[in-house]
Amino acid sequence: MLISVIGAGYVGLVTGACLAHLGNEVRVVDIDRARIERLRGGEVPIHEPGLDELVAAGLANGRLSFHADQSGTYGSQLVIVAVGTLDRAGEWYGELVERAVRGLAEDSRAPRHLVVRSTLMPGTAVRLEALAQAIDPDVRLCFNPEFTREAVAVRDFLEPDRVVVGAGRDAQALVQELHELYAPMGRTILDTDLTSAETIKLASNVFLATKISFANELARLCAATGADVHAVVDGMGLDLRIGRSFLSPGPGFGGSCFPSQVRALPELARSFGIEAPIIAAVDQSNLGQADWLIDGLERARGASLAGSRVALLGLTFKANTDDLRESPALRLAERLVARGARVVAYDPKATEAGVVQLAAGGVTVDAAPSAAEAVIDADAVVVGTEWAEFGALDWAALAPRMRGRIIADARRIIDRDAALAAGLTVVAMGVTHTPDGGGAAARIAVPVTAAAAV
Ligand code: UDX
Repeated sequence: MLISVIGAGYVGLVTGACLAHLGNEVRVVDIDRARIERLRGGEVPIHEPGLDELVAAGLANGRLSFHADQSGTYGSQLVIVAVGTLDRAGEWYGELVERAVRGLAEDSRAPRHLVVRSTLMPGTAVRLEALAQAIDPDVRLCFNPEFTREAVAVRDFLEPDRVVVGAGRDAQALVQELHELYAPMGRTILDTDLTSAETIKLASNVFLATKISFANELARLCAATGADVHAVVDGMGLDLRIGRSFLSPGPGFGGSCFPSQVRALPELARSFGIEAPIIAAVDQSNLGQADWLIDGLERARGASLAGSRVALLGLTFKANTDDLRESPALRLAERLVARGARVVAYDPKATEAGVVQLAAGGVTVDAAPSAAEAVIDADAVVVGTEWAEFGALDWAALAPRMRGRIIADARRIIDRDAALAAGLTVVAMGVTHTPDGGGAAARIAVPVTAAAAV
């Protein structure tokens, strides 16, 4: 099929490059002329494994092209709207989507078949459809959300668990085109209405974030009772009704999706006068994880971190990306500095950008050129992001050059046996491992109430 995509960001670029890879001719449109020029030269502005190769292949075989204005959509059977939905404060913002839909509807040479792929608050697609059809009754609109994670977006696009198609009014022909577009993947295609499709997307993300926060709060409880939270989530995850994924405790969740959507969904409920206390609690729970983690480090260390030098390994919100948006590792840096620690940070992809972003928020952090150089002379080490290279650090060589003897491995990525053999203590989400083989969680006297004794 000949299709076009509006928006050359994370969603639009992955969508365009993958659909070209599947044999379609795809024209990607973005108003950022500089970005379009760089893309025409094969320069991909985002770090996404596998995307560079797909863009290069699409440019080479002519199935992928980049255009700086809407005329790039002319002649397409359908146009996918994949523009950004975050405002400067990182909150969900639908204006760019509305502007794109309105612009397409007003331009009779643009396709009449519109597919929105940007994440929408439930109820938005119906309003966009009415807006577009008020301009041109021939417009047909569908909502086709993406479920791609950063750092694995190409794989998630090409091997989705499911494709969701939310159909607008009289949009059967467009639905058929979307089925044709996704048929090569051989995956389940779920047809539903616009608002249900929007809710599937948002609810899936917020549920995953809730699952993570549940694991994070479990870590706090396990640290108090002496249970090993990692054994607990492994045991829970074996229950197929629960599943192990997105149940790993850590410093909290970050990124451009979970945090904004976890704030937006309860807001939407409140706009209808509906209380959603579980969903509304997730954001606060998430924000509290950094302080709980640092409390545990100070407890295990037996001293406050004030005045100490702390090496912070990892600044991005997850490994294999350069994205710092609402990163929990940045929250760890803020909280450590707030407690009077001097933080020396390193990230394989974003040290400078992370230090600059922290400074813009009034948080001063030093940059280290490598993980090893951050660790040398450190009183404590905190691992905030699960970069594979942190798993290869040589603790036998590094431990003697540290001032302190403790590592808080919030992502369980380091070689714990090597660290213990080097005489270090490792705190992994409330479970303290000591060189003498102690693996019990830090025990804190837990009052046994009559009820608990039953
Ligand atoms: C998410 C959704 O997974 C994806 O389906 C949606 O399309 C976009 O938003 P993304 O934000 O890119 O994807 O990354 P994801 O892998 O979901 O991680 C989000 C955050 O949760 C990261 O900070 C990650 O470190 C954290 N996380 C994830 C945990 O803390 N524990 C887990 O078990 C899993």
